[in-house]
Amino acid sequence: MIGNSRVEQALAVVASQIAERPVIGLTLGSGLGDFAEALAEQMIIPTSAIPGYPQSTVKGHEGTLVFGRLRGGGRMSQPLLVFKGRVHYYETTNLDAVGFPVHLAAALGVRVILLTNAAGGIGRGLAAGDLMLITDLLNLAFVQPQVKNEIQWNIDWPGRGRVEMLDRQLLSILRETARDVGIPLREGTYCWLKGPSYETRAEIEMLRGLGVDAVGMSTVPEAMVARKLGMRVAGVSLISNLAAGITAEKLSHDDVTETGKRVKETLGRLLSEAILRISRMRIE
Ligand code: HPA
Repeated sequence: MIGNSRVEQALAVVASQIAERPVIGLTLGSGLGDFAEALAEQMIIPTSAIPGYPQSTVKGHEGTLVFGRLRGGGRMSQPLLVFKGRVHYYETTNLDAVGFPVHLAAALGVRVILLTNAAGGIGRGLAAGDLMLITDLLNLAFVQPQVKNEIQWNIDWPGRGRVEMLDRQLLSILRETARDVGIPLREGTYCWLKGPSYETRAEIEMLRGLGVDAVGMSTVPEAMVARKLGMRVAGVSLISNLAAGITAEKLSHDDVTETGKRVKETLGRLLSEAILRISRMRIE
């Protein structure tokens, strides 16, 4: 569990460098980091300059925080915090490291978080390059991050019946934005596996039987921490490949980032417009 003082130290360093506190957070998955360049009045902080911040070791995960706002069509977004790159559970098997950026975001004032990832497509009809709105999450890593005192407080466990993990209003905005902008947006369940290996054919068959549409190695733990800290959460997967075992070819991390390069402009358009619209909703 992450102690408050660790977050507070990081908070002090970051808060002293930014002009305004972010309200909306956006995590950019494998190969999707370029979106941050669209921000106006950018303030960039390398994660290596933030005490206690876990460092990503995976290619395509840069490790910078970008603060700023989006402009478009005469509108301006709420202040944003964009995470370029993330830390995966398999890098350290330390769930606190995975949750740390979300804790920092919450401490800074972020109330809404959008999580993106590259994922392997399993669901029928999904193809490499598709974008998929995540409509539910499946945790097959069988671990769960905890936030301080949650057991003592006996708070509702997000995603366990009483409290929804994913925010319906955010999902509606993402759907409507995709329709209005003319971007095809598939929908489905995202499953978190620990990795770092891609799946075997048998594992993919199992996941298919469980109703999984896309499989990846991130997003679920971040979503859980964010919900536990009271944020509103939504996510989009970029289907970077058909899950290993479905196609005959060997899958590599480079294939994943290559598809990201091809589709990131489309994803960027979807995210920009959605963030401008989310900025207008009442964010409690
Ligand atoms: N499996 C798991 N994680 C992934 C994949 C995959 O096929 N593609 C991108 N991340």
